[in-house]
Amino acid sequence: MEESFEIIINSFIESRVGVHDDFLDKVLSRNLKENLLLLYQEKQFKSAKIGNNSKIQDNKLIRSDLIYWLDRKHNNEYENSFLDLIDSFVKYLNRTCYSGITGYEFHYAFYDKGSFYKRHLDQFKDDSKRAYSVIMYLNEDWQTGDGGELCIYHANHTQIITPINGKFVFFKSSELEHEVLLNFKPRLSITGWLTTN
Ligand code: OGA
Ligand code: NI
Repeated sequence: MEESFEIIINSFIESRVGVHDDFLDKVLSRNLKENLLLLYQEKQFKSAKIGNNSKIQDNKLIRSDLIYWLDRKHNNEYENSFLDLIDSFVKYLNRTCYSGITGYEFHYAFYDKGSFYKRHLDQFKDDSKRAYSVIMYLNEDWQTGDGGELCIYHANHTQIITPINGKFVFFKSSELEHEVLLNFKPRLSITGWLTTN
């Protein structure tokens, strides 16, 4: 596990975006995906919002994904296993990089065919508690042509990330604007933020 964390941290230090192509194990990612789809069928997903609580705008022109917040109170074994992994990652970051992370929030995201999330920054203008963005993909076979790439806008280049199963992406929420391109088949992920006080 610490080896995986090192891969993420090293690529983060080198290029501002930590990527691990094969972070989630196949069984856990399959179970998370099935759990996500079940909750989606049960209509437990809600339109995602833009901005924090004080300024909620439901703006389908900016993003069209649906989300479901993970919570240990759900007593779901797969959600809990995922959050256990995040707990270990946070402990490792705080111990080895003095990151000062004090909490996190994660949701499943369902981008139905034809969804997108226009260019944005994850840190809200009037609230800086989101320190790092984390995304993990649950798409078992994603082909060129399925769209849904994550584009990260660096000062001098654009990084394109395909949303392939098990991939872990990690960057500073205040620093990098990014966008999710239009997808042509359902796109599943877990997205969240590591927070500071
Ligand atoms: C977000 C986001 C990227 C992705 O939810 O803020 O940018 O690849 N997600 O799903
Ligand atoms: Ni984002």
